[in-house]
Amino acid sequence: MFKKDVYIERRNRLKDKLKGGLVLLLGNNEAAFNYPDNTYHFRQDSSFLYFFGLDVPNLAGIIDLDSGKEYLFGNDFSIGDIIWMGPQPKIKELAAEIGVENTEQLDQLGNYLKNAKNQNRNIHVLPFYRGDSVIQFSNLLEIHQSEANDYVSVELIKTIVDLRSVKDQYEIEEITKACAIGYKMHTTAMKMAKPGIYEQEIAGTVEGIALAHGGMLSFPIILSQNGETLHNHYHGNMLQEGKLMLTDTGSETSMHYASDHTRTVPVSGKFTQKQKDIYNIVLAANNHAISLIKPNVAYRDIHLESARILTEGLTKLGLMKGNTEDAVREGAHAMFMPHGLGHMMGLDVHDMENLGEDYVGYNSEFKRSTQFGLSGLRLGRKIQEGFVLTTEPGIYFIPDLIKKWKAEKINADFINFDKVLEEYSDFGGIRLEDDVLVTETGSQNIGKRIPITVEEVEDTMKS
Ligand code: GLY
Ligand code: MN
Ligand code: MN
Repeated sequence: MFKKDVYIERRNRLKDKLKGGLVLLLGNNEAAFNYPDNTYHFRQDSSFLYFFGLDVPNLAGIIDLDSGKEYLFGNDFSIGDIIWMGPQPKIKELAAEIGVENTEQLDQLGNYLKNAKNQNRNIHVLPFYRGDSVIQFSNLLEIHQSEANDYVSVELIKTIVDLRSVKDQYEIEEITKACAIGYKMHTTAMKMAKPGIYEQEIAGTVEGIALAHGGMLSFPIILSQNGETLHNHYHGNMLQEGKLMLTDTGSETSMHYASDHTRTVPVSGKFTQKQKDIYNIVLAANNHAISLIKPNVAYRDIHLESARILTEGLTKLGLMKGNTEDAVREGAHAMFMPHGLGHMMGLDVHDMENLGEDYVGYNSEFKRSTQFGLSGLRLGRKIQEGFVLTTEPGIYFIPDLIKKWKAEKINADFINFDKVLEEYSDFGGIRLEDDVLVTETGSQNIGKRIPITVEEVEDTMKS
């Protein structure tokens, strides 16, 4: 945990920005895996962690915006619990660690909330993303589950997005640690890759590195020689000579700050010329995107600039044709990169996505596009100093998508479908992803950059 002043300051900032009523932040509960006592690895809610810091199940925090008082609700552990879990702090002791004065047992939370409701006070809650939280909240307020969403507060969402978007020095230190773990994970994967090894041997080793550093993966690992499938979680293939292995993975620190990097390497240890040609286009798009990152630039514009680099490169190779600006405007490049350039990262790998992607990545000035590809861009608005972002361009050859576009003549003026299908159907996919901090004047890669040039990758694989 951070020092308690960090949490006190964050709650004070919330109180400064939001007025009227009370904020309820429900911590997460344990979730059963295959029977009640066999649970998934516990993951605390990220906004609860941000303001209340306690990585413990079955807690709730209240911030009373009118009186300024703060409460931690939770049950003291019984001797029965302690026999199985070892000595546990009391709720009062947990609250003291984060500078909260008032504590109550959890069974008092319902009365507290119903009182507030009877007095017509605003109860601000965040969107629910777990079924048990909806049930818990509905039971507390004695409402039907279908009414729980009526309490979701857009004001609270926007206030928290404002606060959590800008990372403080302590958060940047944590994310830097997560990136250092990511460095080890990726260089290990590079060194292990070779024909004949199974994807799952590498995936398991990489996941073990995250665990060995006291955290866990920040999302299920994507590691595949079929990298054209964007979120490929199947790891049962034996790596084949001539294929590319795409690894998209990151770690959480023990405090749950994330990293998220992607590297794509040749299974044989050496890129073919054809692989190099595509790889270097993606690398150029990534480097160009990073070079454009600075405060007050719209991330959508950076996305489109990286699309321009992809389009130019693909046109030079004869896979695309026509005028680059027109192709990008029409979204023709999205057949090769049907996703956005990147997203915010912090306590969540897609930071705050549970609060609503459009509140995080868009605003009244920047609305989400409905165009295929661009519609998947999670962050379109202007970026600011202290934001942590990913840049993750890619080029993928997705046979079903190419055939569909060809059959329907989608962007036929800009794509040489026959060449793509004949020569690249079994190419796979390449994505390169870095984690970047927006600084006062530009940006900075967080931590040491994972080997990324053709030479760096080949040298790492050799070593
Ligand atoms: N976890 C997939 C990505 O955003 O990179
Ligand atoms: Mn990723
Ligand atoms: Mn990412």
